[in-house]
Amino acid sequence: MLARRRPAGPGPTALLLVALLAAEARASWLIRRPLSPSGPELRQAARAALHFFNYRAASPSTVRVLKEVLNGTALIREEGENIKVAFSIESYRTENSQLGTCSALVGFKDHKSRPTVNISCTPLLDQKERKKEDYKLYKQIKQLETPPFETTIPGKLGDMDPSLQPLWELAMIGNSFLMWEKTTSTSSYYYVQQITNIKKWIRPDDFIILHYRLLLHEFRTQEIISCHLHLVWHPEKPSKTQYHCQDSGTQENGSGNSEGSGFL
Ligand SMILES: *[C@@H]1O[C@H](CO)[C@@H](O)[C@H](O)[C@H]1NC(C)=O
Ligand SMILES: *[C@@H]1O[C@H](CO)[C@@H](O)[C@H](O)[C@H]1NC(C)=O
Ligand SMILES: *[C@@H]1O[C@H](CO)[C@@H](O)[C@H](O)[C@H]1NC(C)=O
Repeated sequence: MLARRRPAGPGPTALLLVALLAAEARASWLIRRPLSPSGPELRQAARAALHFFNYRAASPSTVRVLKEVLNGTALIREEGENIKVAFSIESYRTENSQLGTCSALVGFKDHKSRPTVNISCTPLLDQKERKKEDYKLYKQIKQLETPPFETTIPGKLGDMDPSLQPLWELAMIGNSFLMWEKTTSTSSYYYVQQITNIKKWIRPDDFIILHYRLLLHEFRTQEIISCHLHLVWHPEKPSKTQYHCQDSGTQENGSGNSEGSGFL
């Protein structure tokens, strides 16, 4: 008598098990990939996170700049890639150059701009001191005569007229918003080259309105991008930024609100 051959391949029970395991794997599918602190991915994520932080905090006296990437990991899921990154920062103001750290989770989606950011940073100043500094800047800007329309900050030779520094510092809030919105996982990065054509006025509700033209320098293409920004700011209230950019034939508009001091 011939022995009956078993059917080839896995039986129904094994198939069910495989299906269950696959479903399980899909639900919690996550790959962690450590990234080099000196590599471009972490730097790009840190820049995006910091632009976001500076705009959301809307505190011109405590604007932060990236110092060094400390560590980070790519968290790759089916929905996209998140980058977890820790980095050190220093205060943009050189006279009270302080150090701190930030840690952030940055989500880049399909090379689209405006990454999602969850970030926390150590405070540079305590709350009272920061408020005092922001108010000082607010008063300086209120009293400042609007400079002639053709004035550029910095000046033509890259020099910073100290009386115009408060305008430059305030503009960093709007600039940060724009740079955050323009950042993708693979895009180049931007330098603020100059602001010019500044108009400034005080709204009846005491908000400062700053309207200006921004020249952004894109590092990789060496392109200069020209944008008009409109920033509405008060040291203790949510601020608002709107922009309109025109680069190589394309136009972009955007707007967003910050949470003001409540975010810090
Ligand atoms: C990354 O650096 C931060 C800040 O120094 C530190 O708190 C954190 O533990 C580090 N993470 C890893 C995974 O090394
Ligand atoms: C952001 O990070 C904080 C602290 O790590 C965490 O408690 C919070 O749930 C995060 N929020 C989101 C939306 O991921
Ligand atoms: C952007 O805003 C400007 C000025 O408000 C407007 O003229 C232009 O049509 C807008 N462009 C787009 C693409 O929305």
